[in-house]
Amino acid sequence: MKEKILDELKKVFYPGKTHSVLEEGIIDDVVVEGNKVVVKIKTKEKNQAVIDMLKRSIPMSLKKVDGVEDVELEIEKVVEEKEKVANIKHVIATTSGKGGVGKSTVSVNTALALAKFGYKVGLLDADIYGPNIPTMMGIEGIPVTLDPDHKDKILPIVKYGIKVLSIGNLVPKDAAIIWRGPLINQAIKQFLEDVSWGELDFLIVDLPPGTGDAQLTLAQETKVTGGIIVITPQNVAMSDAAKANDFFKKLKIPVLGVIENMSYFICPNCGARTDIFDHGGARKFAEQNGLGFLGEIPIDVEVREGGDKGKPIVVANPTSPVAQAFEDVARNIVEKIKALG
Ligand SMILES: Nc1ncnc2c1ncn2[C@@H]1O[C@H](COP(=O)(O)OP(=O)(O)O)[C@@H](O)[C@H]1O
Ligand SMILES: [Mg+2]
Repeated sequence: MKEKILDELKKVFYPGKTHSVLEEGIIDDVVVEGNKVVVKIKTKEKNQAVIDMLKRSIPMSLKKVDGVEDVELEIEKVVEEKEKVANIKHVIATTSGKGGVGKSTVSVNTALALAKFGYKVGLLDADIYGPNIPTMMGIEGIPVTLDPDHKDKILPIVKYGIKVLSIGNLVPKDAAIIWRGPLINQAIKQFLEDVSWGELDFLIVDLPPGTGDAQLTLAQETKVTGGIIVITPQNVAMSDAAKANDFFKKLKIPVLGVIENMSYFICPNCGARTDIFDHGGARKFAEQNGLGFLGEIPIDVEVREGGDKGKPIVVANPTSPVAQAFEDVARNIVEKIKALG
């Protein structure tokens, strides 16, 4: 009798999935009492509609088994542990008011610099509008794989000693995706919950520019240790920086500091320095707003080339002044985090 019931449960699809309720692993026990069957279910399912469907579909199927007249479901909801990403010590979010300021470049090279210091580092490309981290890290087109130990989770891609995951590795490259709020929320949630990040000292999250849903979800889903604002010296970028700062404030995410990217130019031939844009604006902005200042990154053709070729400057030319500048930024981040306590 019990075997027949289990066979029948193999045919009951889990709502929204392509496998059965049995494979979903929610059936804790089946007890047969005469012509009555008690199915004990343990589930983390939060969606009440799914639970309601199970309440209908399981009894309906089991009543087909000879000798079964009554089916009772005992549903126990298992509460998921609160700290969702407990094995990640610090989540750091980088953002900018607008695109094109080098937010991803900074995220990538800072992550690699932290790894060089010996930290365990993850890099999450949450910029669903312009996921360029696969290109920058040279992992374009590499498909993600399932974690053999946790079949419901995926493994990040390991490159240059850090663990990387981008929406770009999950959807076709030029897919014109119109992401709306709920989808973004779901994507970010899954990036945090359904990825086997393992033990990490730092997870750097490259957020989309602006102050939208991704930022909100991240703040709601996990404890973000601190935010980093990337700006360029031009004045236009400044008002955007103010917006990013306000947003972090609203979400009660401490700002670790501001980085000025494309800050100045050093001539590769003569070594002379030129402030192409009005250099120093980011430091001023930080001072005016009581924020930390994490450093200045010069504009350098090698940075762009490194990004295009999938070999970031911190690994491509580690002794260059720009790589050193990124290491300084990484050191300052560690200091700021230590100061937070
Ligand atoms: N310091 C820099 N020197 C030279 N090129 C840079 C620098 N920072 C970023 N870039 C280039 O500028 C472009 C935009 O940078 P990216 O990191 O993609 O910006 P964002 O993520 O803010 O949109 C890329 O081509 C990148 O290689
Ligand atoms: Mg980017």
